Amino acid sequence: MKTFYITTAIDYVNGSPHLGHAYEKVLTDVIARFRRMMGDDVYFLTGTDEHGQKIQQSAQAQGIEPQAYVDSIAPEFRTMCEKLEISNDDFIRTTEPRHKKVVCELLQQLFDKGEIYKAEYQGYYSTRQEQFLQDKDRNEDGTWPEIYGEVSEITESNYFFKLGAYQEWLVDHIKTNTDFIFPRYRAKQVLEFLSEPLNDLCISRPKERLAWGIPLPFDPEFVTYVWFDALTNYYSAVADKKDLWPASFHVIGKDILVPPHAVYWPIMLQACGLPIPQSILAHGWWSINGAKMSKSTGNFVEPAEFVDQFGVDALRYFLIREMSVGQDSDFSMDQFLVRYNSELANNLGNLVNRTLNMTNRFADATVPEPAEGGEPEATLRAAWQKTHEEVVPLFEQFQFNVGLERAMSFITATNAYIEQRAPWKLGKSQDPADQALLRTALAHMAEALRLGSTLLQAVTPGSVAKIQGVLGYEAGSDWQAELVWDHRLTGNAVAKNCILFPRPEKKS
Ligand code: ME8
Ligand code: MG
Repeated sequence: MKTFYITTAIDYVNGSPHLGHAYEKVLTDVIARFRRMMGDDVYFLTGTDEHGQKIQQSAQAQGIEPQAYVDSIAPEFRTMCEKLEISNDDFIRTTEPRHKKVVCELLQQLFDKGEIYKAEYQGYYSTRQEQFLQDKDRNEDGTWPEIYGEVSEITESNYFFKLGAYQEWLVDHIKTNTDFIFPRYRAKQVLEFLSEPLNDLCISRPKERLAWGIPLPFDPEFVTYVWFDALTNYYSAVADKKDLWPASFHVIGKDILVPPHAVYWPIMLQACGLPIPQSILAHGWWSINGAKMSKSTGNFVEPAEFVDQFGVDALRYFLIREMSVGQDSDFSMDQFLVRYNSELANNLGNLVNRTLNMTNRFADATVPEPAEGGEPEATLRAAWQKTHEEVVPLFEQFQFNVGLERAMSFITATNAYIEQRAPWKLGKSQDPADQALLRTALAHMAEALRLGSTLLQAVTPGSVAKIQGVLGYEAGSDWQAELVWDHRLTGNAVAKNCILFPRPEKKS
């Protein structure tokens, strides 16, 4: 079985990590953990994109060398991954020798094959996007769209990569491989882009204009265009583990699908005679309180600080619960607190507390042996069966938000079951029938909690481990076998209490 090799985009280190970066890492981590749980061998790569104009400018603004600058920021991205409990196997930086070496090898190979040629270029250039522009990129009134920043007309020699030769092949590949781009509707956007003739890609920048990049191996007066450099990370990171290639799954944001990931990257690989990735997932963008994320306007969430305040699983849960993969979403503190309180604290947290509490009070802190029970027990077990059958396929189709909603509904149903059975009343009765029912109810609560929380494992792994711990339970390695209702907790000693999601302190 081939290893499921999954990647995130590599983040520009021209500023600190933000919520968008955090989301992409968490989403990719949830997919990676879920695939591992389903039995796949997974290899998970993330990292940082450290060359190019943006970085050079940020370093200049601080009055330090680019290398010193990236060395000071890259650790923040690594730390964020640790804080978010991202289960990556490797972290690549594009300034590492292992990466630069592979970029040079690919460039040289393309140059030797005649896929790269030198030519004089005259045209418009956006420094902000590090991109050459054409008249078709203008607004209707002739001005340049704001995203390009200042646009200037330049004439210079550069190296070009013959993209056009692969256009038909790529269109055909996208049309015949319907799982190449997810969500499907994004493939349309790619095909639309490919409906116009492709221009050859300028893959160099003259050193005098941009010094901070990988020098071209065949002409040191030029450095490599940052996208050619950055995309290669997915391959360079596993250059010494060739059986991992091609990547199974690239997770990226919608802004970098067309053209970098869906056009440049497959063509680069095809031209080098390398297999292309199996799938690309383009996720949507977060806004904050309805506005674009921006440091200058203050509507910016520092993921590390947020984790310190609310806990890693609260953030992971919110990001995955709130956003439908592929679509955009808005982050607001109000909405975060609604989900935190109603779903994590008052629903799941409450079930944990009640289960521990009552098992301590009425059963000597030991999960009792259940009987078949009556209609409420049968209903709860049926609800589990339905939930579990629905959630796994939802996760397989990246519908994590819906899957989490179903899992939470099962937790809600379990809390409703407790209300119905009212163990605190049964506990007061001396009637042996009531005592038997009490044992059955306590066992059903514990089993439902074990199972319901197991569904959350890819999203909130730390909390699920804690829940298993307080139930005196150690889960096996076959996740799907964990989803079977079989009262395996019978006889387990449970903890006194456990506060999973404390009430957040009001921030003044
Ligand atoms: O694009 N919401 O780096 P980057 C969700 N270095 N995702 C967001 C987001 C938001 N508000 N803002 C950014 C780059 N992202 C390149 C990638 S890959 C070979 C090179 C996502 O730091 C964005 O879509 O600008 C991208 O996938 C990732 O964060 C890194 O963005
Ligand atoms: Mg960006």
